[in-house]
Amino acid sequence: MGYRILETDDIPAYLRERGHWDEAADPQVREVSDGNMNRVFLASNADGTRSLALKQALPWVRVAGPSWPMNPDRADAEARAYEQVARVAPDKIPAVHGYDPENYALVMEDMSDLEVLRTLLNEGASYGPHTSARTGEFVAQFSFATSDFGMASADRKALIAASVSPELCKITEDVVLSEPYIEHEHNHWHEGLDDLARQFRADTGLRTEVADLRHTFMTSAQALLHGDLHTGSIMVGEREGGPVVRVFDPEFSFVGPIGYDLGLYWANALVSEERARALGTLSDHPDQLRLSWQAFETEFRRLWPTRVDTFFDDAYLDRFLRRVWTDSVGYAGTEIIRRIIGFAHLTDLTTLADPVPASRRALLLGRELVVRREELTSPQAVRDVVTSLG
Ligand SMILES: Nc1ncnc2c1ncn2[C@@H]1O[C@H](COP(=O)(O)OP(=O)(O)OP(=O)(O)O)[C@@H](O)[C@H]1O
Ligand SMILES: [Mg+2]
Repeated sequence: MGYRILETDDIPAYLRERGHWDEAADPQVREVSDGNMNRVFLASNADGTRSLALKQALPWVRVAGPSWPMNPDRADAEARAYEQVARVAPDKIPAVHGYDPENYALVMEDMSDLEVLRTLLNEGASYGPHTSARTGEFVAQFSFATSDFGMASADRKALIAASVSPELCKITEDVVLSEPYIEHEHNHWHEGLDDLARQFRADTGLRTEVADLRHTFMTSAQALLHGDLHTGSIMVGEREGGPVVRVFDPEFSFVGPIGYDLGLYWANALVSEERARALGTLSDHPDQLRLSWQAFETEFRRLWPTRVDTFFDDAYLDRFLRRVWTDSVGYAGTEIIRRIIGFAHLTDLTTLADPVPASRRALLLGRELVVRREELTSPQAVRDVVTSLG
């Protein structure tokens, strides 16, 4: 058949063709795409007892249209990541019912009973005890399973080869890990941040540290990553009285440094903290970095005895985790900075009546995390930096 771009009216027949829908009546379908890149449809029966979500990658960036082409094989990366996570942490992602590589379409569990974490936080909610813990565990389970500790060497080499994602990695290498530190047409910022944006671009020490993190991003094939683990890629809620945390949208997945996933989550947690501080709604925000790191470390250590290559000894585990920690601190810093003086900003800050004071604090924190990551060796050390911002 070839690649078909699906419209709302095509979805019932498509779901039947692919064996996802066998009820007598067609499902009702609505489009819910609110991201930049892809289309998402929800299909449900009349009484709402059965529903599915379908995500299709277009050969361009959805919000830009055909003038910004983008390889739709990012959907392959998303399906591949889900396949790997499903082996080890199926409760932390949407259930995947099928992937159609010809049409770059993924059919999965409808999660519309849950809420996107960023939306909740922006409305003033706190995290509660589960969200960061489950997220840290997610990173540990996914990364351990797809590292040389969780996979035989030959299988790992095949995974690395299959997961190479040049186009999406290049976006990160440019938009996150270089453009904010140079003059670039993508960059924009609030005029109240002119001085800091200028200082950051002139800061050669900062630039060298970012270059180091960028090179690690390009070369450190530790594990399959989510690649875009921000608070807009996590849904939370309750089902049958228990907490539910689901990580979604792993289209930036590739084999890279584990600290990139943790660092992105931390950056978003730290920025949400600045929003809450500005609004006087600070609650459990300051605990989230520690909670996610502790859960990550505990789960990684729990899995360690199952490693497939025992030449890696316990002392090496300590060294490895220290390296992951340091990378995470650094990537948290680069992520904060790029979200304020780079291309794509965060609603956490942009929807504040005056985003400047919170953004200034966050930028200064971001720089400290990048340049001092080797000496900030614990969650408490990061807290001390936040406190020192005044
Ligand atoms: N399985 C699902 N169930 C219910 N809603 C979903 C599901 N998947 C995605 N959505 C909705 O669609 C939105 C966009 O999804 P997603 O983030 O995967 O798309 P995207 O185009 O890759 O976004 P981005 O531009 O942020 O990368 C989500 O914010 C959510 O509201
Ligand atoms: Mg996406």
